[in-house]
Amino acid sequence: MESLVKVENLSKVFKDQGKGEVQALVNLNFELRAGEIFGLLGPNGAGKTTALRIISTLMQPTSGDVFIAQLNLRDNARRAKEYLGFLTAEMNLYDYFTVRELLFFFGQVNGLTHTYITDRISWLVELLDLEKYIDRRVDNFSTGMKQKVSIARALLPDPPIIIFDEPINGLDLMASRVVTNLIRELKNEGKSIIISTHNMNLAENLCDRIGILFEGELRGVGTIEELARNTGQNTLEDIFFKMVGEFSELE
Ligand SMILES: Nc1ncnc2c1ncn2[C@@H]1O[C@H](COP(=O)(O)OP(=O)(O)OP(=O)(O)O)[C@@H](O)[C@H]1O
Ligand SMILES: [Mg+2]
Repeated sequence: MESLVKVENLSKVFKDQGKGEVQALVNLNFELRAGEIFGLLGPNGAGKTTALRIISTLMQPTSGDVFIAQLNLRDNARRAKEYLGFLTAEMNLYDYFTVRELLFFFGQVNGLTHTYITDRISWLVELLDLEKYIDRRVDNFSTGMKQKVSIARALLPDPPIIIFDEPINGLDLMASRVVTNLIRELKNEGKSIIISTHNMNLAENLCDRIGILFEGELRGVGTIEELARNTGQNTLEDIFFKMVGEFSELE
């Protein structure tokens, strides 16, 4: 099967003034296959954001390679970027814009036409349940609303590969459901998607395959059934703890 993202022996070392060298990623290997939702599941500090930022061309790895649609990011980052939509918690929005102004601004910066942006906004606004907010300024928006606007911005150019770092973090039940349904809808449209999360339910409900990331290492990759078979466990939570070896001394 065609792999849209391929990560090969990816490592990242941060040189931190306080902590010295931080090995954030250790030799990661995984792929995103066409049409699937792949989940990177891991706790705080596991390396999820680092991995997704590198894949999204926003950060350089210390070693290893990333291929986006067969293009190696080392020499084709600019072309590869056209295949990607990236959502991160740290995405800046411009507070003094309305949602519509903001989307037009980013759309035009990305070279999209006025007609295209208008059509795309109607679609995104409906899917994300943003109708009432489209002409309001972003500055007073709740976390959930800002997240939806960031998602709309990431999806404006209609990229085939979508990368969502913690898509439902900080969202209430309603907003989480809208975002989860949106991700399913994107998959139905044929998009290939990587999400990161520490939320077992989200991983279980949404992902076709899961990579368990712990302390910068991928401890296992596969469907839940495969991971269950390999560990002799039943639930994703039990699989996770078996793979990261935490609390095993209590057994
Ligand atoms: N710019 C940086 N400088 C130094 N260390 C960093 C930097 N960015 C991340 N790290 C460290 O790298 C490790 C992985 O961080 P990362 O943010 O990728 O984890 P994460 O899985 O996204 O965690 P979270 O759930 O908190 O978002 C952590 O130990 C973190 O402190
Ligand atoms: Mg993170």
